[in-house]
Amino acid sequence: MIKFLCSVVLISSALFSFVFTQNDSFIPGKQWKDTNGVHINAHGGGVVFVDGVYYWYGEYKTAGRGGNTSLQGVSCYSSTDLYNWKNEGIVLRVETDPNSEITKGCVIERPKVVFNKKTGKYVMWFHLELKGQGYDAARAGLAVSDNPRGPFKFEKSYRPNKGVWPMNFDAKFKSAVIGEHKLKSWTPEWLTAVKNGMLVRRDFEKGQMSRDMTVYVDDNDKAYLIHASEDNLTLHMSELTDDYLDFTEKWIRVAPAGHNEAPAIFKKDGIYYMITSGCTGWDPNEARSFQSKSIWGPWKPLGNPCVGKGAELTFHSQSTYVLPVAGKKDQFIFMADRWKPNNPIDGSYVWLPIQFDKQKPVLNWLESWSLDVF
Ligand code: DGJ
Repeated sequence: MIKFLCSVVLISSALFSFVFTQNDSFIPGKQWKDTNGVHINAHGGGVVFVDGVYYWYGEYKTAGRGGNTSLQGVSCYSSTDLYNWKNEGIVLRVETDPNSEITKGCVIERPKVVFNKKTGKYVMWFHLELKGQGYDAARAGLAVSDNPRGPFKFEKSYRPNKGVWPMNFDAKFKSAVIGEHKLKSWTPEWLTAVKNGMLVRRDFEKGQMSRDMTVYVDDNDKAYLIHASEDNLTLHMSELTDDYLDFTEKWIRVAPAGHNEAPAIFKKDGIYYMITSGCTGWDPNEARSFQSKSIWGPWKPLGNPCVGKGAELTFHSQSTYVLPVAGKKDQFIFMADRWKPNNPIDGSYVWLPIQFDKQKPVLNWLESWSLDVF
């Protein structure tokens, strides 16, 4: 009997510690259990901080090869310390109506939520691909909620900046150059044509493509969608209206023909920084960084922010967001995804502190770290 009681006590305490183990550090690239002991499922995510609580939104992936298509929607987790996250469930659900733009089996990537102080609404922008159309639709999707824990209501999806030229576009590039669309891809002539706006002209009537994206809210509450456009060759920075529900007609091209994806943006000491990746599908590549005194550029390339072993592949990850630690000056966390295309649900997260070498962001690999490093 005593033996039996001892085993019960031992098993229950093991179970208790399994369920209630608190995280007190970040362990990049490894399993990251939520408060239920389940690996966090919020990929390509972003974080918003409201009333002392961080909310992490991301792509809810499923097991198996098809797990990168959206079978559930966008998930949300909450935390007060950034280490321990509670699953708040699916906050934007894919729909069963086959005619819905967000029908089950569409592609929803890189959701970012921002809070609009004027309207009191939580606004989610995401990259939407229509079911069965590969990555051709390249739309910006919009959903809105009154509550950070959702539910978010899907509003619309479309391509930004239809019929509007970028602000940093030479008037002479507004007319098509005869025969340019016949140029062979990746030749110097083709790259020059892309730099000179060939793909902006191609998409002028139907709107500019919006694939990998993030949303940035500036100190003056102006917000911007930064999106991979022009077949991923050029980033576009598009200003949102004051309610964050649409675009103003102000937009620029950033790094034309530079082939950037995965933009993540932040501001330190009045200077804007952007970290991006190259374009190699789900495989990692070398990150890039940029700096600008104005959101409207010019954005100066600063090179790879990663240093040390694994720097050439961004430590096997791809940027998704830069998270400013609430209430702390100059404490920024680089958030990235380690994708697992064969079993997307297993994808892990690489969070690292951003350090600075003068005016250049620097990322060093750390096996494990806590907020004390700042
Ligand atoms: C890389 C992007 O960054 C991801 O968000 C996703 O779109 C994959 N490409 C798809 O191959």
